[in-house]
Amino acid sequence: MSIKGPGLPVFDLIMSIADLVDLVSPVIENHHKQTAYIAYCIGEELGLPERELFRLYTAGSLHDMGAFSLESKLKVLDFEVLNAHQHAYTGYLLLKDFAPLTDIGRIIRYHHVPWMDGEGREWNGAAVPELSHIVHLADRIAVLIDRDAEVLQQVRGIVARISEKSGSLLMPEAVDAFRKLAEKESFWLDVVSKSLGLVTRRLVKARIYEFEGVSIYGVAEALRRIIDFRSRFTAVHSSGVAAVAGFLASFSFLDMNSINLIKVAGLLHDIGKLIVPSEVLEKTGSLSRADVLLLRKHTYYSF
Ligand SMILES: [Fe+2]
Ligand SMILES: [Fe+2]
Repeated sequence: MSIKGPGLPVFDLIMSIADLVDLVSPVIENHHKQTAYIAYCIGEELGLPERELFRLYTAGSLHDMGAFSLESKLKVLDFEVLNAHQHAYTGYLLLKDFAPLTDIGRIIRYHHVPWMDGEGREWNGAAVPELSHIVHLADRIAVLIDRDAEVLQQVRGIVARISEKSGSLLMPEAVDAFRKLAEKESFWLDVVSKSLGLVTRRLVKARIYEFEGVSIYGVAEALRRIIDFRSRFTAVHSSGVAAVAGFLASFSFLDMNSINLIKVAGLLHDIGKLIVPSEVLEKTGSLSRADVLLLRKHTYYSF
């Protein structure tokens, strides 16, 4: 399906998804952006090429998207996280059929695999991308930051805790790169900055290799899976709305381009529901006032 219009602002799109999935709770605010930024900086310190840096940034921005419930989102903030692979695998499933992000899905799938003195280069017989280990490290650094304390006073403690796990949990080359990075005060101040999005925009030279030749409909369809698969009650909701809206529009005076855009709007109309944890979406009994208010906000965030 071809749709005329401006090019895809992929960088904005990725950042918006990262923001939405972190809006579930103030405890995890900016977690995806922080992980993405840290992963990007470690990749730069390791001298990775620009294309790999963009992949690192994208994987970091989406790495926990498979954690649907608030409970699972909070669990992955523990430094020594148990049963971590389920949300990593779900994240992979959400992306694997969308060609431009299949590769990012593979990085996400293995982002909790321990290094185990190099044995973590493989997991269940499959090769683990090196970038997964970098995202893993970035994620662990992000969860160690105490949001209520001065970050510069935490640097020594965080470096010591990460260094302890070099070789066992974390890839040593990446840890060494992080130790160098940790000497820069500006790195830490960026990570906790309220303007991290702007900082990153300046840093990431968003060459959009992965999305070349992909239609906006393809992107909307991929996002639709992320929106709908979070609850069995909504599994085909957005595709149903898109189909009905397209069908109704076909009886109007609108041209084909406009009809196709209406279908895209149908696929994306509930994207703001990413701020609602699956516990609320899946509730079978009556909703509390807080749940209702949270659900009402989804239209604002969709916009
Ligand atoms: Fe995770
Ligand atoms: Fe995480």
